[in-house]
Amino acid sequence: MDPVRNPYAPGAGQRPPELAGRDRELQQFEVVLERVARGRPERSMVITGLRGVGKTVLLNTFKSMAIQRLWGTGKIEARPDQSIRRPVAAALHMAIRELAPRHRAPERIEEFLGVLKAFAMRDPAAAKGTSHWSPGIEVPASRGRADSGDLEIDLTELFVDASAVATDLGVGIALFIDEMQDVQAADVSALCAACHELSQSGGPLIVVGAGLPHLPSVLSASKSYSERLFRYARIDKLDREAADLALILPAREEEVEFTQEALDALYDAADGYPYFVQAYGKVAWDLAPRTPITLDDVKVSTPEAEEELAVGFFGSRYERATPAERDYMHAMAEIGDEPVPTAEVAEALGRKPSSLSPARDSLIKKGLIYSAERGLIAFTVPHFGRFLRAQPV
Ligand SMILES: Nc1ncnc2c1ncn2[C@@H]1O[C@H](COP(=O)(O)OP(=O)(O)OP(=O)(O)O)[C@@H](O)[C@H]1O
Ligand SMILES: [Mg+2]
Repeated sequence: MDPVRNPYAPGAGQRPPELAGRDRELQQFEVVLERVARGRPERSMVITGLRGVGKTVLLNTFKSMAIQRLWGTGKIEARPDQSIRRPVAAALHMAIRELAPRHRAPERIEEFLGVLKAFAMRDPAAAKGTSHWSPGIEVPASRGRADSGDLEIDLTELFVDASAVATDLGVGIALFIDEMQDVQAADVSALCAACHELSQSGGPLIVVGAGLPHLPSVLSASKSYSERLFRYARIDKLDREAADLALILPAREEEVEFTQEALDALYDAADGYPYFVQAYGKVAWDLAPRTPITLDDVKVSTPEAEEELAVGFFGSRYERATPAERDYMHAMAEIGDEPVPTAEVAEALGRKPSSLSPARDSLIKKGLIYSAERGLIAFTVPHFGRFLRAQPV
């Protein structure tokens, strides 16, 4: 059928035509926004889940919800090799720019921007003169606030000041952090401490995170009270009903239907994983000659969709691994699809567990595997084991 009208959207952070099966998380976040706005004590939210389950899309939806309530918002994507100081500064700059036009006292905004600039200029890279980044803030940097160089102190002061600006307007500020598991250890600790401070003062600023399933353990390793700071929402594959709706509703908009057998086959193939739902749906649409999309259409399109996934979704990630890391993952895949004991991987490879630590740690850093529990390891990418088993070693 007409590819131009194809509604499905496989891709990182691509807004799906229908955000299926996430009503509970959306409701929870509504409550968070409402409570924070009323100055009630509230824990912020952190979404976790495997690759391609829709964390980024949900985070973006939360951001839209906050904007609808006239909150100031900013978003960063954490990177393992980067301090969060500059990205956070840029994100809060965005948030304040959203609020500024509605603020009655421009000098309050300027005052805050001065603090923000001082905060940003404390970046270690800027100090070494290796930074070409300028915050694009016209006002002079202020002194003596959020500029100590200790991120924990500086973040706390910055958050307090930002939330004071939002309080003036009777709104809040939400800072979104995607790939939060990649925030450096020292920065995680500073971030948790700043959130903790803020939650005690009741300031209307929240940090909302998204990351891989081991994010809660990253946070609690850094600060034991992090469990009381964040409400964790683990999102997973869609159940049958939601997966069907993700396909049916966007098609209906275009006056296209699926037969029941076609939906059965698509669910078998995609297994409810949002990225796969979009990927299989997209190819089925393109190859089906007419509505309704039938079982035969799905049968014809599945191999093509699988090929696209093998290159784009699995292959691109596999490429990032070194030969030693690939051996490690192949050994994991041979053991099974559940989280596997690292000791068993070592045994399968005929190696001492300690000699494999570098490969394992670097795979974790690359976001390809995660430690599900102490001594256990699992793929972050759904169906990755199956992909590897089909790969020549
Ligand atoms: N609730 C949903 N219903 C239907 N499709 C969805 C849903 N959530 C996400 N998708 C689709 O799934 C794909 C992956 O979404 P997204 O990039 O948000 O995943 P992610 O969890 O952030 O993945 P990664 O860990 O790789 O960053 C996108 O194509 C998106 O359109
Ligand atoms: Mg994402």
